[in-house]
Amino acid sequence: MMSRRIHGMCLLVLATFLSCIALSAGDHRSVLWRGGSIAVEDAAENVLVSPSGNFSCGFYKVATNAYTFAVWFTASADATVAWTANRDSPVNGVGSRAELRRDGSLVLQDYDGRVVWSTNTSGTPADRAQLLDTGNLVVADAAGNRLWQSFDWPTDTLLAGQPVTRYKQLVSASARGLPYSGYYKFYFDSSNILNLMYDGPEISSNYWPSPFNKWWDNNRTAYNSSRYGSFDRRGVFTASDQLQFNASDMGDEGVMRRLTLDYDGNLRLYSLDAAAGRWHVTWVAVGRQCYVHGLCGSNGICSFRPGPTCSCPVGYVPNDASDWSKGCRRSPDVRCGGDDVVDFVEMPHTDFWGFDVNYTAGVTFDACRRLCLDDCNCKAFGYRPGTGRCYPKIALWNGRIPIKPDQTIYLKVARSVKNQMINQSSSFLHFDGHACTVDERDASVGSSYLHGRSNEINFIYFYSFLAVVFVVEAIFVVVGYLFVFRADPVAAGRVRDDGYSLVFSHFRRFTYDELSDATCGFRDEIAKGGTGSVYKGVLEDGRSIAVKRLGELTQADEVFRSELSVIGRINHMNLVRIWGFCSEHPHRLLVSEFVENGSLDKALFCDDGESSGVVVLPWRSRYKIAVGVAKALAYLHHECLEWIVHCDVKPENILLDGDFEPKVTDFGLVKLLSRDAGSHMALSRVQGTRGYIAPECWTVGRPITGKADVYSFGVVLLELLRGQRVCDWVAAADGAWDLQRLAAWLKEKLKRDDDEEEVSTWLEELVDARLRGDFNHVQAAAMLELAVCCVDGEPNRRPSMNAVAQKLISLHDTR
Ligand SMILES: *[C@@H]1O[C@H](CO)[C@@H](O)[C@H](O)[C@H]1NC(C)=O
Ligand SMILES: *[C@@H]1O[C@H](CO)[C@@H](O)[C@H](O)[C@H]1NC(C)=O
Ligand SMILES: *[C@@H]1O[C@H](CO)[C@@H](O)[C@H](O)[C@H]1NC(C)=O
Ligand SMILES: *[C@@H]1O[C@H](CO)[C@@H](O)[C@H](O)[C@H]1NC(C)=O
Ligand SMILES: *[C@@H]1O[C@H](CO)[C@@H](O)[C@H](O)[C@H]1NC(C)=O
Ligand SMILES: *[C@@H]1O[C@H](CO)[C@@H](O)[C@H](O)[C@H]1NC(C)=O
Ligand SMILES: *[C@@H]1O[C@H](CO)[C@@H](O)[C@H](O)[C@H]1NC(C)=O
Repeated sequence: MMSRRIHGMCLLVLATFLSCIALSAGDHRSVLWRGGSIAVEDAAENVLVSPSGNFSCGFYKVATNAYTFAVWFTASADATVAWTANRDSPVNGVGSRAELRRDGSLVLQDYDGRVVWSTNTSGTPADRAQLLDTGNLVVADAAGNRLWQSFDWPTDTLLAGQPVTRYKQLVSASARGLPYSGYYKFYFDSSNILNLMYDGPEISSNYWPSPFNKWWDNNRTAYNSSRYGSFDRRGVFTASDQLQFNASDMGDEGVMRRLTLDYDGNLRLYSLDAAAGRWHVTWVAVGRQCYVHGLCGSNGICSFRPGPTCSCPVGYVPNDASDWSKGCRRSPDVRCGGDDVVDFVEMPHTDFWGFDVNYTAGVTFDACRRLCLDDCNCKAFGYRPGTGRCYPKIALWNGRIPIKPDQTIYLKVARSVKNQMINQSSSFLHFDGHACTVDERDASVGSSYLHGRSNEINFIYFYSFLAVVFVVEAIFVVVGYLFVFRADPVAAGRVRDDGYSLVFSHFRRFTYDELSDATCGFRDEIAKGGTGSVYKGVLEDGRSIAVKRLGELTQADEVFRSELSVIGRINHMNLVRIWGFCSEHPHRLLVSEFVENGSLDKALFCDDGESSGVVVLPWRSRYKIAVGVAKALAYLHHECLEWIVHCDVKPENILLDGDFEPKVTDFGLVKLLSRDAGSHMALSRVQGTRGYIAPECWTVGRPITGKADVYSFGVVLLELLRGQRVCDWVAAADGAWDLQRLAAWLKEKLKRDDDEEEVSTWLEELVDARLRGDFNHVQAAAMLELAVCCVDGEPNRRPSMNAVAQKLISLHDTR
């Protein structure tokens, strides 16, 4: 019994093993031939793999629906990226592709066909794109001559054999796990020296090698202008400026290495532990992370506690507690005045590197203090008692503590701050509850990376062997399982999901506090509907926003976010742009653009138009609104990446911008709000006004399709014509009427179109009297005809939204 089961298991393992071989042989290629392409869909399978399998190239997920085309280390656990083609412009997760075109260029195109990146090799006899064992992606001709190679376009990482040169520099990423270019550079400066530089929006400065020293004190040379540096497979880096360093595991050629300019501004050499998939730092440029410039922004101070941490000095507050590179600002902002207004706070063991106004030696402390006191631009001064060195500072950057050689900074602050400090005997660093650690990946500099080949080695081999056997077994079983059960290939492959921190261009996650601030505590309510209240707000970057507080949502956070990721990538000029969301229990908020002219119902149904001086919506605008809304719905129904029924089309959900261009809002909400309840329940919860809901939605058991929106749109068309709510219209006509009877009556009227005169007068009676006959008869007649078809009780007889939009567009320019 037992042995049979074991046999069975062995067979299963063998089968999965064989299927793995078949899978890898069938799927993985290292060459993309001319005319071939790689699609973003099934990104985990659509990859080029170098012949030895050490590198992979394909689409790399940076966030929901945002992908880059990249080369990564196959064996590293988090699929560390070595090179990125389009680091600053990720492409869409659906429909994007990388293609070696017949004209010879390798291009990356977005879902809409736009070329996002190209090797610019069109017109060459390029025959293939190939991923080499070195991690170099090359475009070559039939004879093997390289026409283009990724080694010539480094991003933030050098691989063994890949040089940094006069023209090629490394640029850090902007944050952990994000591909975007950051502010740090590794490059040859104009005097042929390899440098690390912070090149921020306000300042730029070099911090490695030590900027205090002359180049000869740093053991470099400025006389070799060939400007070339690289490391070899043994882990030895050499450069033309005589920079030379070795990996701590130097000599081991079987190890894969990378030299990466990390997002925290430090340059590190890493070795891959292939069995565990983890990286070890084997060399680091800046031993003390706080010596990297720009980390804590202007006026910020970096300290070790025990990791690098940013804080503001006393009298200063953070500009943005979530992004310390934005630094601190003075509060209160007192710049000068006599001794009764300002004073100096002593900050021992501190330095703010750079930005000295001038440098004077042999002055007394009081003279130095007076120099800074009298100069409104002076923010602080440094003083060394022994030598009488005095250096007033015009700006405070690159602050760090503690430093060597020791020195003291005297910071100019308002006297009130100083008094408070003395009374509370508080520290000169002002943490304000905001102190946060500068994230550092393998910060274990110094001792930890130096371990290695010692007498533990036998055990290490022994356990490694066991571990490898176990890992290999586990991989076979897992891969076999995935293969057999056809699990989601993306989930099986390497996926990195940064919590939707970025989805395509602007879509992002907001914190509740951020939105509370932006809306002044949700004070300015601009609308209230069945799905929640809407508040006006302004983001820190000046964008006006509308924040919708979603009512009772029962579904899980992941579901909410995955629905949002669909909504977030919808982009159409007649749909309100969704900029982000907030999901912090119990709050669920949706952030969208603010549309200035309010909703259509306010513009259309204001009865007291004449008395209050509000201008009646003119015919041109009404027609434009009809066309715009039709386009938006057609887009949602037919063109959108994911098919969406709005389910709540009504004037309240049609917003008007400055030019009375309509923007439909609340699309996709029905999906957000339904899920567990089923669409009928959801619909009745979502519905604002009865009059707009298609009849089939009231009957349980009938499927709800896009035709429900067509019905609602028909009602809106009638209201645009009439300038009155259809329910009021029906009620006024005759108590017993309903919309169906009104539609039938209108249909009858339209049929008798032989007498143009008669139809014309009849139309004038029907169309909004406030227009005083100033409307386009052809357009009005067409709108009416469409409206009557749209509100047909039988969904199948209603036209599609595409047909409606086309009809309206065809008459748009009729005068
Ligand atoms: C291709 O050419 C464009 C436009 O000149 C340039 O921006 C881009 O960097 C080039 N790409 C490569 C990989 O050479
Ligand atoms: C330069 O080399 C000398 C001799 O090897 C060494 O003592 C010194 O620390 C080096 N200087 C720097 C800045 O690395
Ligand atoms: C300059 O540097 C290059 C590359 O490191 C080296 O091959 C060359 O010999 C150097 N030239 C001189 C004059 O030192
Ligand atoms: C690196 O190793 C080489 C030997 O390959 C040695 O000559 C050199 O001095 C070492 N450099 C440093 C900085 O340790
Ligand atoms: C691929 O990686 C393995 C393990 O790290 C290493 O032994 C092998 O030399 C690498 N192959 C190449 C071509 O670099
Ligand atoms: C330094 O600058 C201060 C203020 O700008 C000025 O008063 C002083 O004379 C300067 N000292 C030197 C030595 O230039
Ligand atoms: C601090 O104490 C001084 C007297 O020692 C007093 O004048 C000042 O108002 C106090 N400041 C605060 C903020 O309490």
